[in-house]
Amino acid sequence: MKTTIKQAKQHIGQEVTIGAWLHNKRSSGKIAFLQLRDGTGFMQGVAVKSELDEETFQLAKDLTQETSFYITGTITEDDRSDIGYEMQVKSIEVISESHDYPITPKDHGTEFLMDHRHLWLRSRKQHAVMIIRNEIIRATYEFFNEHGFTKIDPPILTASAPEGTSELFQTQYFDQDAYLSQSGQLYMEAAAMAYNKVFSFGPTFRAEKSKTRRHLIEFWMIEPEMAFCNHEESLEVQEQYVTHIVQSVLKNCELELKALDRDTTNLEKVATPFPRITYDDAVEFLKEQGFEDIEWGEDFGAPHETAIANHFDLPVFITNYPTKIKPFYMQPNPENEDTVLCADLIAPEGYGEIIGGSERINDLSLLEQRIDEYGLDADSYDYYLDLRRYGSVPHSGFGLGLERTVAWISGVEHVRETSPFPRLLNRLYP
Ligand code: 4AD
Ligand code: MG
Repeated sequence: MKTTIKQAKQHIGQEVTIGAWLHNKRSSGKIAFLQLRDGTGFMQGVAVKSELDEETFQLAKDLTQETSFYITGTITEDDRSDIGYEMQVKSIEVISESHDYPITPKDHGTEFLMDHRHLWLRSRKQHAVMIIRNEIIRATYEFFNEHGFTKIDPPILTASAPEGTSELFQTQYFDQDAYLSQSGQLYMEAAAMAYNKVFSFGPTFRAEKSKTRRHLIEFWMIEPEMAFCNHEESLEVQEQYVTHIVQSVLKNCELELKALDRDTTNLEKVATPFPRITYDDAVEFLKEQGFEDIEWGEDFGAPHETAIANHFDLPVFITNYPTKIKPFYMQPNPENEDTVLCADLIAPEGYGEIIGGSERINDLSLLEQRIDEYGLDADSYDYYLDLRRYGSVPHSGFGLGLERTVAWISGVEHVRETSPFPRLLNRLYP
């Protein structure tokens, strides 16, 4: 019977055939331990000389790294293995030999690995990161479907900028200028007025000349938007959502977290409600922590965010930032009009901001004033203003950056390992 490594646990005691690659091997004169991988998992195949004909044992011993084959044998329980079972090999049918595979079990530098990203994805840790990414995506759909959200897909080619005009990728749209989407938010606001609670999940692009462990040029964002929803209610959705994805990964990705040596102590502590600190209090806190130069009105950098996150050791909302360091669309804070009803969610352990969100301005004249103050072209936002002309309602939303969230939950240092083919400042290949 043909099966996969993952499914093989349902075939203990049976003989099965699996299409696989050789990940690694150890062998002696009498036994060969084959580390098999098939994309669904990693499993040991044991080839014992005394139980095989000479040719088959020799073939097993001579298999080279990443050679592909069909391998047949009996699945047996094995307590020492991570997955709890292995294969007693009976026969091997080579499909395609692999020689001089560039990524050997020794250590390679990151640039080398990134140049071989198309092959590096096969490695155990990279495989685990993508499985966790997939689980977060699965849990995202689960959460929003269960909470009455409709998925709406905003366009990627756009005529205007939601998050400021300096980080836009420009392209040609026949005889017109166009931009790759930085965020689907403005379209999601239109969608919320049509479908109430909506979410999107898609690629976004930032022409940011940043070369940090948190920045990608192309990243995927989950953007929920909710009609009749104030800032406080939006924060509650955010903390429930983030808790749901953390718990889903803890429950469904045990093997992957183990493969990554992830210490899950902090992840297990993630529960609602999340701690909150206002921007004002955060500035005071940072001054006490020795960041004496920080002035009210400045944006926080990575060291500031990390100091705040370390203090709480949980995801923490920093709320009510100064208006002038945030985008044009945020609703003023009625208690202090120099600040807005917004929050950034900062992940623990130095992973930085994983969510940016806010209540949106719903008053037409205030929004027109802001578009003017921010020097934006009112014509290209006319559709957005229509949402305030025809039955405007209080509404809020947020964007969660998938790759930063995957990095945090997986415990990988740099976001480049959380995207299958990351687009970085100096990398568009492979
Ligand atoms: O804070 P940002 O810029 O917010 C928005 O785009 C809003 N329009 C979202 C909304 O309200 N619908 O981006 C949201 C998140 C950040 O918190 C971060 O997780 C991620 O997107 N992000 C990046 N991730 C990787 N590389 C980059 N260059 C990123 N820029 C933002
Ligand atoms: Mg932000």
